[in-house]
Amino acid sequence: MSILYEPQDRVFTIHTKRSTWQMKVSRYGHLLHVYYGSKIEHMDLSFLVRGINRGFSGTPYDACDDRGYSLDTLPQEYPCSGTGDYRTGCLHAIHADGSQAVELLYVSHRIYAGKYRLPGLPSVRASDTEAQTLEILLKDRATGLEVILYYGVLEENDVITRALSVRNGGQTRILLSRVLSCCVDFPGRDMDMLSFHGRHAMERILQRSRVPYGRLSVGSVRGTSSHQENPFVILCDRDAGEEQGRCYSMSFVYSGNFLAEAEADQIDQTRFVMGIHPDGFCWTLEAGEEFIAPEVILSYSGAGFGLLSGNLHDLYRQHILPQAFQGRRRPVLLNSWEAVEFDFTEETLLSMAESAANLGIELFVLDDGWFGSRDCDKSGLGDWFPNLKKLPSGLSGLSDRIRDMGMEFGIWIEPEMVNEDSELFRAHPDWCLRIPGRKPNLERCQLVLDLGRKEVREHLFDCISRVMDESKAAYIKWDMNRSLSDIWSACLPGSRQGEASHRYILGVYELMERLTQKYPHVLWEGCSGGGGRFDAGILSYMPQIWCSDNTDAVERIHIQYGTSFGYPACAVGSHVSASPNQQTGRETPLPTRADVALAGCFGYELDVRMLSGEEKAQIRRQIEDYCKLWHVIQQGDYYRLSNPQENADFAAWEFVAKDQKEAVVNVVILHAKANPPFFCIRARGLKEDARYRIDGGEAVYTGNALMHAGIPIPVTQGDYQSIRYHIQQV
Ligand code: DGJ
Repeated sequence: MSILYEPQDRVFTIHTKRSTWQMKVSRYGHLLHVYYGSKIEHMDLSFLVRGINRGFSGTPYDACDDRGYSLDTLPQEYPCSGTGDYRTGCLHAIHADGSQAVELLYVSHRIYAGKYRLPGLPSVRASDTEAQTLEILLKDRATGLEVILYYGVLEENDVITRALSVRNGGQTRILLSRVLSCCVDFPGRDMDMLSFHGRHAMERILQRSRVPYGRLSVGSVRGTSSHQENPFVILCDRDAGEEQGRCYSMSFVYSGNFLAEAEADQIDQTRFVMGIHPDGFCWTLEAGEEFIAPEVILSYSGAGFGLLSGNLHDLYRQHILPQAFQGRRRPVLLNSWEAVEFDFTEETLLSMAESAANLGIELFVLDDGWFGSRDCDKSGLGDWFPNLKKLPSGLSGLSDRIRDMGMEFGIWIEPEMVNEDSELFRAHPDWCLRIPGRKPNLERCQLVLDLGRKEVREHLFDCISRVMDESKAAYIKWDMNRSLSDIWSACLPGSRQGEASHRYILGVYELMERLTQKYPHVLWEGCSGGGGRFDAGILSYMPQIWCSDNTDAVERIHIQYGTSFGYPACAVGSHVSASPNQQTGRETPLPTRADVALAGCFGYELDVRMLSGEEKAQIRRQIEDYCKLWHVIQQGDYYRLSNPQENADFAAWEFVAKDQKEAVVNVVILHAKANPPFFCIRARGLKEDARYRIDGGEAVYTGNALMHAGIPIPVTQGDYQSIRYHIQQV
């Protein structure tokens, strides 16, 4: 049993393979957090919860003579505003009389086999034998507001998920202006926060900051999870590293606005919260209505970031990504974007496809520019029918010819958007999010369709189904190229406009759910100008996401390094592009570009017709290598062997097969030097006593030699040389 309840002391204990979570109903009925960390069995840990009389930290009314009992200092499971806890909280409600207070007290609980699901929202999936659920019902006695806290426990994965529902159990309207999904209170303040910041074309760059007194927050109010911050955050010991230290992660299963916040309080305790960003959010609950807050995935490692990432990579592969692609090699694709952008004809595409087929590429992806009047980014979005001037044989004719060449056909769409210069906008100007009487902010000349509206979703479902049926596409790239602004929905009354952003995301999920259910064998790739919506919500529907519009191999090393903390390689879309690189002008060798792209879902994005004979031969070998190594890379364990933000000399990473019989170590020299120092790289994750060969060579090495003594990196000439070692057990 991974969830235990001890009725006498009213203590709940959750165990995973290596962690324990404990909470307790206090003598006054509040649900207090007791412990989260390394596994501790058979122990009531509530001695950790202490209180002394402190000035300006009040007591609940029922505890008036118990002056050490203060919600302002006690660790809590789900802190609320207005009743004496002044730290960052999870729930803020405004009642019909204007009062803004909630005090939640324990009512009941239930424990059952299997994992709860959240209607309308993505969440971790697990069978009855893989997970258990704990539901705890709490109630605000004065207003009747009820909260059910959900805990999903995936023991083998070292993962606990949290979500909740808030129900108006009273008679009058309640406004929810803040509903975060999760809180963990820690004793002690010596903690760092790892967050992943960035910008378009440079996403998920690791930032490590000390949690200060006061609040340290990251988040997004862009309507998407965003390029600028990622809804994945780690809190850890100040000396935690890849292989040591306690670390705790929160991953939000949500693709819209989010807030992740850590606060060191007045008595050196640390609070860590995550949920929908409260800015601009206000949800009305009429009597009897319920609001469901999205899920947060928590994981713990007592042995550094490597183990934490490993927990999460396994969780994504086993319980989040659509299962149709579990254990299957993703096809090697050629994407048309960087080669031709909007400028192509059917002939251009067919000649590119022919060259691609000759190289062994398996999937031809037609990116933007194939529909409506789409000759540049100013027009056509919304008109999801083929531009017959460019494609006289239509989607069916073109895709048939590509299939005749032995490749599958894939296609790009951006369903959530519309250009003002489009037939759709002219027919339904009210279908987009914009404020009457105000000129909207434009990005890339496009507006956002209000996916909170049913008729918009129905229309898009029909359009995309038609594209799929006509083209018999085996792959779809679902793009989304702007942040939300001017948020106002024509189908909501003024008093409910604070719901529009969340309703938009619920609409996106409903559409994704319907389409991926209707076409379960199609490979869907998420995208938002690269990795602007790289999160567990999208990955619940689409097994991979285009990681960044930056395809420069050197910059990608940094982007993929940051991404790897929270997401597995099999979720990362990664392509070999032309050199000099389109975004940076940097020149890198073709093998380096391929090795970097191999650390994800592999493909090409360049004009394959322009390649020399030698380059073509190299690409054929790269594709053979991918077919040989994909199972280690996409299904194995990932190790960060260097931090490219700190090590300017070289970057190194490694994949190890689950049975530890095979590994791939990659090294890229970042800065060539005269009279160079010698470098060695120590592998990880091998069997200490097993014997291995490298690249089929004569020499035999023990696992512990490769892991403790290391592999000497050869001295190379020129920047950006790549060295790959394929290690196999003898
Ligand atoms: C942004 C994407 O990230 C690119 O890969 C490409 O699909 C363009 N949009 C097309 O407009």
